[in-house]
Amino acid sequence: MRARPPELVRCPGPGSVKTELPDLRTEIPGPRSRALSERLARVECPEVTFQGDSMIFWERGAASNIFDVDGNRYVDLLAGFGAASLGYAHPELSEAAARQAETLQHAMGDVYPARVKLELLEALDRILPGDLGYAILSQSGSDAVESAIKTALRVTGRARIVAFEGGYHGLGLGALDTTHRAFFRDPFAARLPRTTQFVAYGDAAAVRQALAAGEVGAILVEPIQGRGGIRPAPEGFLAELRALADEYGALLIADEVYTGMGRTGDWLACSAHGVLPDLVALGKGLGGGFPISALAGRAELMKQWGASSGEALHTSTHLGNPVMCAVALRTLEIIERDQLLERARGLGSELRQRLEHAFGPECVRGSGLMLGAELPDAARAERVVTEALREGWIVLCEGERGCVLALTPPLVIAEKVLWSGVDTLARIART
Ligand SMILES: Cc1ncc(COP(=O)(O)O)c(C=O)c1O
Repeated sequence: MRARPPELVRCPGPGSVKTELPDLRTEIPGPRSRALSERLARVECPEVTFQGDSMIFWERGAASNIFDVDGNRYVDLLAGFGAASLGYAHPELSEAAARQAETLQHAMGDVYPARVKLELLEALDRILPGDLGYAILSQSGSDAVESAIKTALRVTGRARIVAFEGGYHGLGLGALDTTHRAFFRDPFAARLPRTTQFVAYGDAAAVRQALAAGEVGAILVEPIQGRGGIRPAPEGFLAELRALADEYGALLIADEVYTGMGRTGDWLACSAHGVLPDLVALGKGLGGGFPISALAGRAELMKQWGASSGEALHTSTHLGNPVMCAVALRTLEIIERDQLLERARGLGSELRQRLEHAFGPECVRGSGLMLGAELPDAARAERVVTEALREGWIVLCEGERGCVLALTPPLVIAEKVLWSGVDTLARIART
């Protein structure tokens, strides 16, 4: 059992709340987490939640802190899979959600939409580069990728997609066909259309070959492979894909579910490469931790869906849910007002330097506040994750071999807390 004096560190920007260093009051996991985990095992499909000996149940969050059911306080260095980019219980997001829920919690998104759906779509139109101003809203990142796959087929009439080894685009059956890892695909192989051709990430010549074989409607790429191990696209690669897509009449789809909405220091990570995709999938940080996603596309392409006949061809009951839209809208406003793109760039570059110092420059990669440190093997990485949790720091490993320590903290995380986290991870990794 460890106890530490709390240290209060303020985040920048109005409306922010304090972040504190970890404060552990029980062994980890504590008795309440253990008891809940036994209950969960009786009611949830066993494949869903990992019943290892580190499972803690979250009770509440504040800024970059998580409190578990045993009263232990952690720092989340992942922003909950990269989604809680404004941290937890941001007072303005809570207020936006509560106000909208009290006013109108549900609408008929594709028949009688809420006004706030329009306001969110207009905000996306304003912040996204180029003419990526026509969008389809949805709930998960996987949904946004499904919208992209359908749009590509609708526009080009060609079903094949070029995607990349190490790529992750979600687990819905359409998106799954473009997700590379065998672990996810193999059990459902009989259900996959297998219209995706995978090529090595960074290999433009292989992409050209795949396009030359014909029938390719789209190239689907992550500017930084997130779940693939925080692997950034090599210099010039996205521009080459843009040129190849144009040459062969295919669409360039950027999956920015992880990288987008400020995580790498821009609204879109593609922008740092000077590349404008035809379609972009957004999720995670778009809703500041609330489930909303979007596919945004060039007007000229999105119009090729044609007008709704009254029976929308691609929709869902909760499309444009007013509470999710209100929170996403407020998230975008706060990111702009509090200059969090700039903060992600500045803090990210210092984080990178510190990680390079701690783990060696050759092991560190990513950009903005989406960084990874590659450890020698999965066993070491797993040990760092487990021991870090036992000291109150939440991190995970990514990559097919599971040996990349991923750091995707809330964009508002307090610097001192972050540096303390890096020191802790480095110390654990060394021992
Ligand atoms: C790049 C990318 N695309 C799509 C997804 C799927 O998003 P979701 O889990 O919300 O369906 C993820 C999730 O990690 C992702 O990283």
